[in-house]
Amino acid sequence: MKVLGVETSCDETAAAVVVDGEQVLSSVVSSQVDLHAAFGGVVPELASRAHVELLTPVIAEAMLEAGVEGRDLGAVAATVGPGLVGSLLVGLSAAKALALVWGVPFVGVNHLEGHIYAAFLEEPDLEPPLVVLLVSGGHTMLIAMEAHGRYRLLGATLDDAAGEAYDKVARYLGLGYPGGPAIDALALEGDPSAIDFPRGLLREGYDFSFSGIKTSVVTYVRKHPSVGTADVAASFQEAVVDVLVTKAQRAAAEIGATGIVLGGGVAANSRLRERILDACIADGLRAFLPSRAMCTDNAAMIAAAGWWRLRSDGPTPLGAGADPGLGLPLITT
Ligand code: KG4
Ligand code: ZN
Repeated sequence: MKVLGVETSCDETAAAVVVDGEQVLSSVVSSQVDLHAAFGGVVPELASRAHVELLTPVIAEAMLEAGVEGRDLGAVAATVGPGLVGSLLVGLSAAKALALVWGVPFVGVNHLEGHIYAAFLEEPDLEPPLVVLLVSGGHTMLIAMEAHGRYRLLGATLDDAAGEAYDKVARYLGLGYPGGPAIDALALEGDPSAIDFPRGLLREGYDFSFSGIKTSVVTYVRKHPSVGTADVAASFQEAVVDVLVTKAQRAAAEIGATGIVLGGGVAANSRLRERILDACIADGLRAFLPSRAMCTDNAAMIAAAGWWRLRSDGPTPLGAGADPGLGLPLITT
């Protein structure tokens, strides 16, 4: 079944056509980064207006590239949350209208679940239980995935998300927005052991804390104004990745996972990918790493998650609204 995915939760306008939740026929992403860069972050009102302008051409391009028409599709899936409400409404309304016109089911998709399913686009044969490390600009979660759609929360950030810490530190270092890719690139030229930044909650449980390291970076640079920015970037990144990998590895051992799944924008980070791969090799685990393009916001992951949700829950009623604060559906028993 071919599913059209639509993603407009934040500042990327995206559409994709995916077969059976795994084969990507097309994935078009129009980034609004330049539009928001001057403001140092996403401006919600500008984002929704840009989605209105960009969405129709982006969907048309995705359909054309995939060589499909409306009648070839089995469903239209769109992100319902979490995200910016105005932005979500643009994609959601377009997806519902298209589903209605083409007479195919509509599926509302949780953006966080989309990030998890990005990992299965390239390696669909998942074998639960798995540990999922979901690290984006708004979330940092360690999850035990017991089966498709069955998630148990092991830990989450108590303050800043990992991507948020990257963005804030990058802004402080004058590296611009978005900060993650800038720090990732600059860190390649620095010494990761130059500065011993704190590893928050490293040995305690599965929760995370990244606000301390952000403050440490500021304090350190103030005290040592001549320090090389590349060394600061590399040392900051090493501390963040250390905590993420240590906890994911410990969780995988504790729940007897067959592998570790990475998801979210920070999963594009080269050092995190390298260290997770090393950890998986050392412990005989499988590493499910989405390709870099599938880590940051895109619609192929939404089409994939939508295909799975359609199989398990059926279509979403057209009356369903956007849910800006939507969380991942968790099992608690
Ligand atoms: O998943 P995403 O595209 O949007 C959200 O749902 O939040 O994640 C965006 C976050 C930003 O904080 C960005 O700085 C971070 O992912 N990011 C990275 C890298 N690429 C994107 N962080 C570290 N290294 C990267 N290469
Ligand atoms: Zn995202």
